[in-house]
Amino acid sequence: MDFHPDEPKTMKIMSPLFVRSRSIPLLLLSLLCSISTTLAHNNEDPTTKTMEDFSGYAIHEPPHSSITNTLPYSLSVDTQSIQNQIDELSTFSDSPAPSVTRILYSEKDVLARRYIKNLMGLSGLSVREDAVGNIFGRWDGDEPELAPVATGSHVDAIPYSGKYDGVVGVLGAIEAINVLKRSGFKPKRSLEVIYFTSEEPTRFGISCLGSRLLAGIETLAEALKTTVDGQNISFFDAARSAGYAKDQTDLTSVFLKKGSYSAFIELHIEQGPILEEEGISIGIVTAIAAPASIKVDFEGSGGHAGAMLMPNRNDAGLAAAELALAVEKHVLESGSIDTVGTVGILELHPGAINSIPSKSHLEIDIRDINEQRRNHVMDRVHQSAVAIAQNRRVKLSEFKVINQDPPALSDKSIIEAAELASKELNLTYKSMISRAYHDSLFMARISPISMIFIPCYKGYSHKPEEYSSIQDIANGVNVLALTLSKLSLD
Ligand code: GLV
Ligand code: MN
Ligand code: MN
Repeated sequence: MDFHPDEPKTMKIMSPLFVRSRSIPLLLLSLLCSISTTLAHNNEDPTTKTMEDFSGYAIHEPPHSSITNTLPYSLSVDTQSIQNQIDELSTFSDSPAPSVTRILYSEKDVLARRYIKNLMGLSGLSVREDAVGNIFGRWDGDEPELAPVATGSHVDAIPYSGKYDGVVGVLGAIEAINVLKRSGFKPKRSLEVIYFTSEEPTRFGISCLGSRLLAGIETLAEALKTTVDGQNISFFDAARSAGYAKDQTDLTSVFLKKGSYSAFIELHIEQGPILEEEGISIGIVTAIAAPASIKVDFEGSGGHAGAMLMPNRNDAGLAAAELALAVEKHVLESGSIDTVGTVGILELHPGAINSIPSKSHLEIDIRDINEQRRNHVMDRVHQSAVAIAQNRRVKLSEFKVINQDPPALSDKSIIEAAELASKELNLTYKSMISRAYHDSLFMARISPISMIFIPCYKGYSHKPEEYSSIQDIANGVNVLALTLSKLSLD
């Protein structure tokens, strides 16, 4: 994929369908309106000017006369601003560039939140936060009593990852709102941008923490009362250090009712190679694969690496190694390319070269688009853990399924709206399955959902080489903007 250093500052796309369907007088009217917008801006007070300089784009909506409840006909993404924002956000990181590490409720996470809330404010959104720090920026529609249309993603980043995962779906959502405002569009249903808390499971081992709570998962709200991180810091102490969960341990206020949104659509990098390989601009997600994660602990007797003879050992480290290989074996036995399994964490205690591991800890991630097949692999992994413990005379002290989520299906009407938007923007598109999980997986429990994917370089993700061109991002933002406009008029 080529870098585009000489990208124009804004990318304007006119939908040929809209051009055809509008009459010449309407075009003239819209031209006059854009001239009057420019004139109006010349008389602004200096504070506004400073805010515009900071944000890099006009924060004003066009004058009232040009605001319409019809679909926007000219969309222009401010590519320079969105690239600057992606680059700026990547500096809020606990690892050196080009890698990004942004862990839930860390100082860098708090700075990123402030940055995004500021952008939401500059875009004229009214900002609200819930007790765990899900952030909502709302643009009121003409009929604010109707269920809003929502979009958004996450900004937390796993250790040593890249700067696009999640970020494109939050900054892109805010820019999609700006695009619609600049076009003179006025939504009927309100539009809402959501910044989800902790899509990544890094700190507390729970993925999509914010969206699971929004979906009203009571067992999680309960479990968080006793959840601690690797440093033994409780979830609530961590949340309080970031300014959330003030005096409460009851998180039911975060729950949203089914039907709170009429639609939810998330923009995201593909995190796989298909779109780039096939030269397609947009992926429209029809289903999200079913993820599961498991924590396993083995305990043995440990001992001296020189003095303890091999027949007398019960090595917890070797039990873990054997289980890691068993995960691979059972996944491959499924016979489907869609079954995947990963041991991403393997820790040995005490972790000294001359000490036989007395404890081991593994975290296993297993996914499939077929829930039954995924569950079968999980059962086989459990059987192996029991057998390995027996054969190696170690104790299987924990085999805990942390989550075993069902897949989610996208909503037909949202898929169709995104397809139509891609067509109208002359962008190639294809239906896709998301093999990564996303907050959309849990938003599906309270709202119809779909997702828009854009290509990323060689499919790289969760590593510093992650990259999407600004052209691909702009395409995604335009499709998102047009889809939101369609859904908001529904
Ligand atoms: C999300 O980050 C995932 O691991 O799928
Ligand atoms: Mn991720
Ligand atoms: Mn993500």
